[in-house]
Amino acid sequence: MILSANEENILLAAEIIKKGGIVAFPTETVYGLGANALNKDAVIKIFEVKQRPYFDPLIVHIDNISWLEKLTLNYKNEIVEKLINIFWPGPLTIVFKKSEIVPYITTGGLETVAIRMPKNNIALKLIKYSGVPISAPSANKFGYISPTNASMVYEQLGNEVDIILDGGRTEIGIESTIVYVENNDVYVLRLGAISIEEIESVIGNSVEISEKVKSPGQFKFHYAPYTKVVIFDNIEDVISCINDYKSAVVITDKKESPDLPDNVIYDYFSESGDLREIAKNLFEKLYYYDKMGIDVIFVKSIKEEGIGRAIMDRLKKASRRGALKL
Ligand code: TXA
Ligand code: MG
Repeated sequence: MILSANEENILLAAEIIKKGGIVAFPTETVYGLGANALNKDAVIKIFEVKQRPYFDPLIVHIDNISWLEKLTLNYKNEIVEKLINIFWPGPLTIVFKKSEIVPYITTGGLETVAIRMPKNNIALKLIKYSGVPISAPSANKFGYISPTNASMVYEQLGNEVDIILDGGRTEIGIESTIVYVENNDVYVLRLGAISIEEIESVIGNSVEISEKVKSPGQFKFHYAPYTKVVIFDNIEDVISCINDYKSAVVITDKKESPDLPDNVIYDYFSESGDLREIAKNLFEKLYYYDKMGIDVIFVKSIKEEGIGRAIMDRLKKASRRGALKL
C-alpha cells in the first residue's frame, strides 16, 4: 500500500517497524526497504522480499550519532569524526566494527556494520519515531534497478511490504558512497553520491578505491534492467549498427541532439550534462525504457570524475546483462 508520507503515516509506519514489520521509505539517495536492524526476524523478512543472498550485508540507518556508541566498537577516530561532521546527515556510509547488539543477519555474518545517517526528513522521522536503528537496502528485487520513486517500489515489491511511504522523487538518485577507515586511511568500498574528490578535500589526504576490505554486495552485474544496455563513446558507432535493432533508445545530453534514424527514440539524462542531474534521472530512465520493452538502450559514456565515476559504475554494472560490445 502506498501512503503519502505525512506525519500520521510516518507514525503508522514507525508502529509497523516497532512490531517487526517492513516499510519502504524514501532517503535522499534511493528508496530503502526498512526493518528494525536489531530484530533478527524482521531483518530476515527484508532478505526474503528482496530475494537477496544472506551474505550481502545491510546498511543501518540512524537519526542520531549517539547510536554509534551502542552499535560500534571503534567510532572514536579523528578521520571518522571529520567525515561525520561534514557529511552526516548525508549519503556517506561508514563501516565500523560492530558491537554485540547488532545481529549477524544484519551484517551478512561480518564483524563489521555499515552505518549512515540519511539526509531526508521522512527517513529521519521514521527512525526517530521507531526508536530503533533501521537496516535498509535499496527497495528493489535483488540485482534490479534501485527505485527512486514510490511507484518503482510498488511495481517491484507490491504488497510484499507492509507500507510504502511516498515522499516523491529522491533528490540524489544514486546510492551512498561506502567507506572504511583504518588508522588514518580511508578506503572506498562502493562509489556513490559523495565523490572521492569531496572526501579527499575533507581529510586532506588521498583516498583509495579498495578491495582490501570486502564489501560482499559489490557484484559485477547489478542495477540492471532486463533490456540490453550498451555504453558508447562515439555516436557514429551507434548509427552504424542501429538498424540491426527493431527498437532502441539513445540517451545522451540534450545539447548533443544527434541525427538519428526516425525509428530510434532519442532521450537525455540532463539538459546540460550536469552530473547531479544525470544521477537524479539515471535509474528512472533505465526503468522507464526497460518497461517499454525495446531491444537496446544505448547510453553515452560519462566522464569519470566527481560523481561521474559512480554513475559509470552503475552503468557498467547495468550493461553486463546480455553484454554486447560496441
Ligand atoms: O544510499 C544507500 O546506501 C541506500 C539507501 C536505502 O540508504 N542503500 C543501499 O543499500 O544502497 P544496498 O543494500 O542496496 O547496498 C548496501 C551495500 C551492500 O551490498 C554491501 O556491499 C555494503 O553495503 N555493506 C553493507 N554492510 C557492509 C559491511 N559491514 N562491510 C562492507 N560492506 C558492507
Ligand atoms: Mg541495492
